[in-house]
Amino acid sequence: MNEYSWWQTAVIYQVYPRSFQDTTGNGIGDLPGITQRLDYLADTLGIDAIWVSPFYPSPMADFGYDVADYTSVDPLFGTMDDFDALLDGAHERALKLIIDWVPNHSSDEHPWFVESRSSRDNPKRDWYVWRDPQPDGSPPNNWLSAFGGPAWGLDEQTGQYYLCTFTKKQADLNWRNPEVQEAMFADLSFWLDRGVDGIRVDVAHFVMKDPLLRDNPPLPDPPATLSRNHGEYDKYEHLYDKGHPDNHALYRDVRALLDSYRPERFSIGEIHIADWEEWAGYYGNLDELHLPFNFSLVHCPWTPEDIGRRVAAAEAAIPEGGWPSQVLGNHDDARIATRFGGEHMPIAAMLLLTLRGVPTLYYGDELAIPERFIPAEQQLDPHGRSLPGSGRDGCRTPMQWDDSTLAGFSPEGAAAPWLPLTDDWSDRNVARHLEDPRSLLNLYRALLAYRKTSPALQVGDYRQVDAPPGCLAYSRNEGAVTIALNFTDTALDLGLSGKVAVTTYLDDDAVPSRLRPNEGLIIES
Ligand code: NOJ
Repeated sequence: MNEYSWWQTAVIYQVYPRSFQDTTGNGIGDLPGITQRLDYLADTLGIDAIWVSPFYPSPMADFGYDVADYTSVDPLFGTMDDFDALLDGAHERALKLIIDWVPNHSSDEHPWFVESRSSRDNPKRDWYVWRDPQPDGSPPNNWLSAFGGPAWGLDEQTGQYYLCTFTKKQADLNWRNPEVQEAMFADLSFWLDRGVDGIRVDVAHFVMKDPLLRDNPPLPDPPATLSRNHGEYDKYEHLYDKGHPDNHALYRDVRALLDSYRPERFSIGEIHIADWEEWAGYYGNLDELHLPFNFSLVHCPWTPEDIGRRVAAAEAAIPEGGWPSQVLGNHDDARIATRFGGEHMPIAAMLLLTLRGVPTLYYGDELAIPERFIPAEQQLDPHGRSLPGSGRDGCRTPMQWDDSTLAGFSPEGAAAPWLPLTDDWSDRNVARHLEDPRSLLNLYRALLAYRKTSPALQVGDYRQVDAPPGCLAYSRNEGAVTIALNFTDTALDLGLSGKVAVTTYLDDDAVPSRLRPNEGLIIES
């Protein structure tokens, strides 16, 4: 196993810092809160790496994905000492720490943008994408914001538009200016020098745009996408505002920077591209991103046939020597317990942790926290406010630790949490799940513990095998183990022999020849 890099055998756990653990009583999670829960992550659960969504100073127009300073900590989340304590605490427990890197845009309150907007001849004017209005005063081209409306904000004072692919408070950086790359790499080095183990690259494929800023062609009949509904935005082919081939040179440079550090640093990119070949291009010749996130299962119809097809397509697309990534949920998509149905959460857990490659588990999915419905007019999320039904507050509700007031998320007497808890928090929490030997949390623990002892699951090959209708079955490491997942609520004959290593029922009654309703099995041959 020694020939594998740490990240190849790792299981990543995503922490959304606002929602994990509040230590100050202001209703918002913070960095000391994550540190306080490291024993849960390392020992109780047994994951290997934590990805922490942004904690940088920010006006919070997009809850931290609008960064106003790339090299400090927002006081809401703590101090730089708190960050160092988190990093040290993680490393003491052999956990890796991955931070979010947001290269496409900064906050409009970042000093770079404040300077840039101050006058047309400011030296930093060209650090962002500024263009004159069209003769009728309208924006320079037809590009739309992913959150609704034109992707351009008008600066009244200087009479030009700036590009903003997300909210108006997130201004796209102009990476075609070498000073931008130099400044952004210096800021990234700040964290690498401090000892962070890796980066998750926000909207990695958006960064380089068409230098001519040509109009995107309309797409009257949009195909199903790999992300949630984006309304009008989905009705254009995004030929020119993202996915530009020049991204590849940028990620070769990012990789060279990461590779100049020891121990080895890691990158995982947020890449929503449906075309497999284009998606796989972000591995480069294994000299770009270590992993592009594979989101194909996030929006996959929940059937064994569809899942099997998408896993096969990813396996076929990944270049020789490349490594897969697996993910079912995150802070941008509805909770999996609601999308797949609670009864399917055990097989979803087994799927995520037994496919080939690096799984990323979203906080709270180990408890099957459901999506919390929050009407558009109450949404805090900018996308939820602009496009009813696309809000992301519902998947960002506070972590549920115990049945004390505020679910152990905030100390007693604290302010109301920034988002409401789900209705069933007093039953659905870590403490309660730990008491129940057959809980979903205990299944995650069993799967994670088994995976650690199983080279077949960590690094073995993947092959789909024949299975009865309603079942997805695959082997790892040339048949050393077989995984069989029953998507139906009736028993299915499997006809396999061998030893059951894990059943999602977590009991002693499992047999390799037959799957019980909604059961998943790991069978050693
Ligand atoms: C992707 C992030 O995951 C999402 O939360 C954010 O709103 C956009 N990028 C803009 O940064």
